[in-house]
Amino acid sequence: MLSTTFFLLTVLVTVSNAAVTRRATRCPGGQTVSNKACCALFPVLEDIQKNMFADDGCADAAHTTLRVAFHDAIGFSKTKRSFGTGADGSIFIFPEQELSYDANLGIADAFNLEAPFIANHSIGVADFIQFAAAVGLTKCPGILRPQFLFGRVDATAPAPDGTVPEPFQDVPTILARMADAGFSPAELVALLASHSIAGADDVDPNLSGLPFDSTPSVFDTQFFVETLLKGTLFPGTSGNQGEVESAMAGVLRLQSDSELARAPQTSCLWQANVNNQALMAKSFQAAFAKMQVVGQDVSKMVDCSDVIPEPPVLSTTAAQAFFPPGLSRSNIEQSCKAVSFPNLPTKAGAPKAVPSIVQDPATNGACQDDGTACVAPFTKST
Ligand code: HEM
Repeated sequence: MLSTTFFLLTVLVTVSNAAVTRRATRCPGGQTVSNKACCALFPVLEDIQKNMFADDGCADAAHTTLRVAFHDAIGFSKTKRSFGTGADGSIFIFPEQELSYDANLGIADAFNLEAPFIANHSIGVADFIQFAAAVGLTKCPGILRPQFLFGRVDATAPAPDGTVPEPFQDVPTILARMADAGFSPAELVALLASHSIAGADDVDPNLSGLPFDSTPSVFDTQFFVETLLKGTLFPGTSGNQGEVESAMAGVLRLQSDSELARAPQTSCLWQANVNNQALMAKSFQAAFAKMQVVGQDVSKMVDCSDVIPEPPVLSTTAAQAFFPPGLSRSNIEQSCKAVSFPNLPTKAGAPKAVPSIVQDPATNGACQDDGTACVAPFTKST
């Protein structure tokens, strides 16, 4: 009886292995993928890991590649064809136009960083932008491995000004723009988890690398906690457009984040992320996958998620949300009327300024913040 069971198990294992082997393809570099077309991504992956991210962690290069992926994708409208064709690479294919828009201030950093690598590889510009963002995300503890579909069609025209939400716009304007691009308020809040690993270089013209929360190298829920704390100070000069007071020295709070955290349409969605790492990571993963293919025909794309590396795990202890030193629940501006704010521990120690995010020198280059000298050194069209 035992030997029969063993035999059956052996047969089953052999059959299932055979099925896997039949489906899988071995790439020239020795990697195994489910679709041969995905092999083209490995030389790009190896090059950007070694030379563009330069073995960095969840740092400036990962942040900047994520931001440009959003600004490219959001150039789309369900109602106006002139708004662009979504995640189509237009932001880098037509940099002199798109990078001159106010909302794209600072995307020059991403162009300087990524353009030499785009020029060196045969994959399309749109695919490169979204691939780099997905790979960059895998450096951030707390993220779930992003999906990656391959085979975007590159843009033939730039997106016009006005497709990217601005930090000084009010909540109805931002929600309307996102809805017009196909995103619900819940999906916008999910996507804004990206501000957990982000900072500002240009909102305050005198300071760069100002983080949006106290843990900008970890994809954790602190951003959703800290944006709900009563604002008391500016990290630098006051009166910058799109900036409001934050609760911690060194941290910059965007007006848009502050208002979305408190608005009746989004406040409960916002608060739901607090200390709920699983919810934040899962909803971001889904919304990000949708964002990455805006305007593209997914039926013509190949699922190459198996090329994306596994991100580092964030332990349950490290994922525990907290109030920054010296602050507590009494500093929370309770905005979700339906659910009370969760109890969190206060981090021990004296309040101190959150350090700025170190800027990657490779983000400096010929491409200027106003779009001048950002000449695309590649002509790719699929
Ligand atoms: C309401 C929508 C949004 C607004 C108003 C907004 C606004 C901003 C602003 C003003 C900055 C600072 C730019 C600078 O001064 O350097 C920023 C940074 C950033 N944003 Fe957003 N954002 C929005 C949504 C998103 C989304 C959906 C994503 C990604 C999916 C994203 C990812 C980032 C990242 C990663 C950074 C940091 C970039 C870096 O450190 O280089 N943002 N955002």
